[in-house]
Amino acid sequence: MMLVRRNAVIHTLEEIVRIRRAAQLTAGVRDEVARLATAGMTTKELDDLAGSLIAATGGESAFLGYAGYPGNICISVNDEVVHGIGRPDRVLLPTDIVSIDLGVRIDGACGDTAVTFGLGAPLPPATQNLLEATSRALAAGIAAALPGNFIRDISAAVEEVGRRAHVGIVRDYVGHGCGIKLHEPPEVPNFTSSMRGPKLEPGMVLAIEPMFNQGTYKVTTDRSDQWTVRTGDGLPSAHFEHMVLITEKEPEILTWPKTM
Ligand code: MF3
Ligand code: CO
Ligand code: CO
Repeated sequence: MMLVRRNAVIHTLEEIVRIRRAAQLTAGVRDEVARLATAGMTTKELDDLAGSLIAATGGESAFLGYAGYPGNICISVNDEVVHGIGRPDRVLLPTDIVSIDLGVRIDGACGDTAVTFGLGAPLPPATQNLLEATSRALAAGIAAALPGNFIRDISAAVEEVGRRAHVGIVRDYVGHGCGIKLHEPPEVPNFTSSMRGPKLEPGMVLAIEPMFNQGTYKVTTDRSDQWTVRTGDGLPSAHFEHMVLITEKEPEILTWPKTM
């Protein structure tokens, strides 16, 4: 059984074997959904497609039914930040930016990964800057995921990239431990505060997930579906997420794209 120490989960080797597999399957589905997403589809069709791909892994959606979540995956378009639900009346346009966030649960372990991409039309420079900054911030956060560092070092690395890019850094949602449960301690904020958080130790698995907005950092939750989070000013938002294993040396990115 996993060990919870100083409010962080340290996974056993046996758990890490299962988490690694769940994360790799999750990454494969992510890349396939992103490859197959096209203008003209509805977000419901994309969610159904993701459901089929998840089922084909032999696992199930880690999100469906989580706190009552109704979709297979989260699909957040343009000003939607996170937790967008696939809808039969939302037709994707070539000018849209689409964030997909998903997890496969299999053999008692789960994955969690997200990516944001355009659907083909050239993006406004400010939106291109947003996507690049969010992706770079994730890379910077991962580079800080070293044993002996603190959670705050990851937060600082992510925040620094966001500040330099002049984007709005979402504060209401944070990264997290992950692996056996979808959300485990500790929290991994994308901004720094007085809290240093736990010290990073081998066996911790963290979902690092910058959520950046082109304009205001402020967000609102849809009043009718109670899930969809949107930017306060209607400007676009981007989200990238990887699961990383803290090791004795470099972090291992568990949701890295498959090479074969
Ligand atoms: N995948 C989200 C995260 O990165 C959580 C989704 S919650 C759900 O933490 F209910 F939508 F599944
Ligand atoms: Co996620
Ligand atoms: Co997550």
